[in-house]
Amino acid sequence: MTDRPSAADCYPPAVLPSPERQLSLKGQKALVTGGSSGIGREIAIELGWAGADVVVNYNSGDEEAQEVVEAVEQRCGVRAYAHQADVSDEAAVQGMFQRIQETFGGIDILVANAGVQRDAAFDEMSLADWDMVLRVNLTGQFLCCREAVRAFRRKGVVPEVSCAAGKIICMSSVHDSIPWAGHANYAASKGGVLMMMKSLAQEVAAWRIRVNAISPGAVRTPINRDAWETPEAYHALMKLVPYNRIGEPSDIGRAAVWLASDYADYITGTTLYVDGGMMLYPGFEAGG
Ligand code: NAI
Ligand code: BGC
Repeated sequence: MTDRPSAADCYPPAVLPSPERQLSLKGQKALVTGGSSGIGREIAIELGWAGADVVVNYNSGDEEAQEVVEAVEQRCGVRAYAHQADVSDEAAVQGMFQRIQETFGGIDILVANAGVQRDAAFDEMSLADWDMVLRVNLTGQFLCCREAVRAFRRKGVVPEVSCAAGKIICMSSVHDSIPWAGHANYAASKGGVLMMMKSLAQEVAAWRIRVNAISPGAVRTPINRDAWETPEAYHALMKLVPYNRIGEPSDIGRAAVWLASDYADYITGTTLYVDGGMMLYPGFEAGG
């Protein structure tokens, strides 16, 4: 890369955050992958509340995705549409970004959130389940991040819109750091997201592209229904959560809005753990 802009070119004093801008994402265009359910759904709505136009990506379940689009448009008064695409399919991802360019005229925020679990004991895990999780959770983020970086670099900084040329939030997990027996494919994918995010952040910071991750703890969504649906399961889960409540998707949605806003303009290459203290090794509270 030779066309590295000087800092002065992309961050003149005129683009310092102003009081009016605050947490507003007005005029910005956001893509949320896996936006039809759980955490992605709430992120799409929170981004809409903050004023961004939103693309709700999903893989299957047209009705669910359309319901999120209606919630965003009606509650938040911004534009939104649903786009079906498998994030692990290169051509489908490129088509999705092409449509954003044509419909919204560009993109300012990518939340690479789509993710799956296919759990199995290590010695029983099929190659298909290993590949599937790595393809969606890691390769899918690579493909979306790559298209976003291309679009951000073409556009550059638009000071009236944001201090940054673009913002990427990779949805990781506490399991980017906490080993997880029976979920080796999933933990490996999130560990991969951690280092992809940091390497990318280092590579594109000079273009005023910010790349960060959110690592949720246990959040009440369909992906982990078994962990919270019954009182017994919930009680067992709470042994891992010092704050003593499960996370709600809106806990993650609000964190994403802040991280995407100019309030977080000096933050890049970092992971925000939103986990009620799951990373605090609660087993050591009374032991060790
Ligand atoms: P969810 O199952 O409710 O939502 C997953 C979303 O990903 C859905 O919209 C689904 O359509 C989409 N998706 C799945 N495969 C896809 C593909 N190939 N292409 C496009 N979209 C696809 O699960 P949840 O919990 O909302 O998960 C969202 C993200 O948060 C995932 O990356 C997950 O690993 C992460 N996470 C979840 C936690 C939790 O406790 N719920 C904790 C830590 C991380
Ligand atoms: C997983 C959930 C789990 C949470 C905390 C997430 O990454 O997707 O199933 O409840 O981590 O262990």
